[in-house]
Amino acid sequence: MGVPDAAAKRISRLRHEIEHHNYLYYVLDAPELPDAEFDRLFRELQDLETQYPESRTTDSPTQRVGAPPLDAFDTVRHAVPMLSLNNALSVAEAEAFDRRVREALGVDTVEYSMEPKFDGLAVSLTYEDGVLVTGATRGDGYEGEDVTANLRTVRAIPLRLDQEGRPRVLEVRGEVLMLKRDFERLNDYHRSKGEKPFANPRNAAAGSLRQLDSRITAGRNLSFFAYGVGRSDPFPPGVTTQSGLLDWLASLRFPVARDRQVTTGVDGLLDYYRGIGERRKALAYEIDGVVYKVNDFRLQDELGYVSRAPRFAIAHKFPPEEELTEVLGIEVQVGRTGALTPVARLKPVTVGGVRVTNATLHNEDEVHRKDIRVGDTVVVRRAGDVIPEVVRRVPVSGTRGPEFHLPDRCPVCGSAAPRAEGEAIRRCAGGLFCEAQRKQALIHFASRRAMDIEGLGERLVDQLVDRGLVHSPADLYSLTAAALGGLDRMGEKSADNVVKAIGMSRHTTLARFIYALGIRNVGEATARDLARHFGDFVPFMEADLEALTAVPEVGPVVARSILEFFEQPHNREVIGRLLGVIDWPRVETAGATAKSPVSGKTFVLTGTLPNLTRDQARALIEAAGGKVAGSVSSRTSFVVAGEEAGSKLARARELDIRVLDENGLLELFPDDHPSIAKQQKEGS
Ligand code: IVH
Repeated sequence: MGVPDAAAKRISRLRHEIEHHNYLYYVLDAPELPDAEFDRLFRELQDLETQYPESRTTDSPTQRVGAPPLDAFDTVRHAVPMLSLNNALSVAEAEAFDRRVREALGVDTVEYSMEPKFDGLAVSLTYEDGVLVTGATRGDGYEGEDVTANLRTVRAIPLRLDQEGRPRVLEVRGEVLMLKRDFERLNDYHRSKGEKPFANPRNAAAGSLRQLDSRITAGRNLSFFAYGVGRSDPFPPGVTTQSGLLDWLASLRFPVARDRQVTTGVDGLLDYYRGIGERRKALAYEIDGVVYKVNDFRLQDELGYVSRAPRFAIAHKFPPEEELTEVLGIEVQVGRTGALTPVARLKPVTVGGVRVTNATLHNEDEVHRKDIRVGDTVVVRRAGDVIPEVVRRVPVSGTRGPEFHLPDRCPVCGSAAPRAEGEAIRRCAGGLFCEAQRKQALIHFASRRAMDIEGLGERLVDQLVDRGLVHSPADLYSLTAAALGGLDRMGEKSADNVVKAIGMSRHTTLARFIYALGIRNVGEATARDLARHFGDFVPFMEADLEALTAVPEVGPVVARSILEFFEQPHNREVIGRLLGVIDWPRVETAGATAKSPVSGKTFVLTGTLPNLTRDQARALIEAAGGKVAGSVSSRTSFVVAGEEAGSKLARARELDIRVLDENGLLELFPDDHPSIAKQQKEGS
């Protein structure tokens, strides 16, 4: 049964009209139609497509609401690799870029196309005969993930190209991002539901694009800007420059940054950089710099590429962001080792795309050196992922609070908090009797690089300790979902997940366990050295000063911290209980492999590991009594994921299966070296 002519015509007409209004609204930001009228057209089209299902095609605007969820993303190989840009981090480096370009070309001045550097995710959109057929993430530049269904929900991305002269095959590249206002709205919504807000628009965009359920993506209001072309067959005749290409893409109705410009010479580059920098805040989206590209394609070809980046383009990045705000209060936080840290409570500001309400003042001397007091206006800085800090005070008139002093007693437990001679830090002497230290110890114990208990973060630890459910790490292992279920913001499923995650953490390595104890001066590397040296926990715990300093990497300071730790009866008691539940390979006992976390377990390998080949990894696992399977199921114990890990990794996440990287895999073995693990097996 075909679609009657009149209906087919109406459907085609409606699709054009709806997409035209989408374009006006999402690309040109100049809507013409009242929402209600748009909704009416949309519903009419939906009704017709329901009546004539054979008329439904993937390029219909009705498909923008998302499709049924996938099990995993497929992998897409990029026809032309998606490379990255080199960075210029200063004006001098930008000038050096221009100099290199001129010298390589043997010319006095060069024409550049200048564009914002969008802070989102690179994607590639492939159109065949004008229809969007594939949308993929950048991945490692050679292969990405097939996120077509998700990208179809992005209103600014055309589902079809009707223009004359469109190439038969066209791959458009650009950035998916979330506008600042959509990000705020999404986070408000998340907060109102008691869910965790996203840290910044980039994370929100990434999280939304990588949903297996594209209906979720559809609700997230992602945006897109085109900045280039991968494959074009044929290449549009007459387009010989980057700026011409952007104009051409705009004529195909792709969204292209309005803030693009062309200039000749390095002064123009720097003017553009400064100009955009000044307007950065007012832009609708986040940018982390600007991009300069040699405009003429012939010259681009002449310059070519160095390893994985073009010589003809560079990203000139903005410096880490700083903002002005006001100090509302100075609080004292007690860390895991009892250190008292002054923290400024700030009038909330967004720095580098992240809302900041607290910033560290480091220690008492720093507060005095910078002369920071309540009521002051200060510069806060957030560089990359580091903790925000108060940089300096900006003198303005107004009332200032009194000079700040750290208390000489712990603000949490009231114990003395002396400042040891020659140290900049006051420490609470309360040890694990201090609730703050206990909480921090638990947070550290559960952290990713320690016992890796997902979902057991600060908020949950606060509640567990406050309600007396947990006093020490050992108590975690007798928690039940029912006990957790009574806590704030803890649904049945989350409670189950936390209990599961705690259970999974029993299988760990000696090194992680030692690190997790949070012994002062014993970081990850030292923990690894100790594990390798002692082989099991008991000899480590019983070691005296001499035995400890016999470890090549351990000096007297570290050794003394370890001895002090084990001298505490409380610590010995907690460890005694933990040893009853934790499971790691005990190498010196006979039949070690039977107890190893590898023996009897099923592994799935995916992606490329940095050092081991797949065969080596397999041999290693099998030698220790484990199995390697081809696909992920509920019976999989561990997924070992390297670079370019695709659908198997996604599946593992879905099924809550523990994912290891190469290091994580190696840590499961009694010794870090595969061949030794093998020998042990042969010898046992
Ligand atoms: S051109 C050969 N233009 O920056 C590289 N990239 O490190 C071609 N980006 O992965 C990229 N804005 O995600 C280009 N106007 C722009 C960009 C831009 C953001 C991102 C892109 C890429 C990364 C390069």
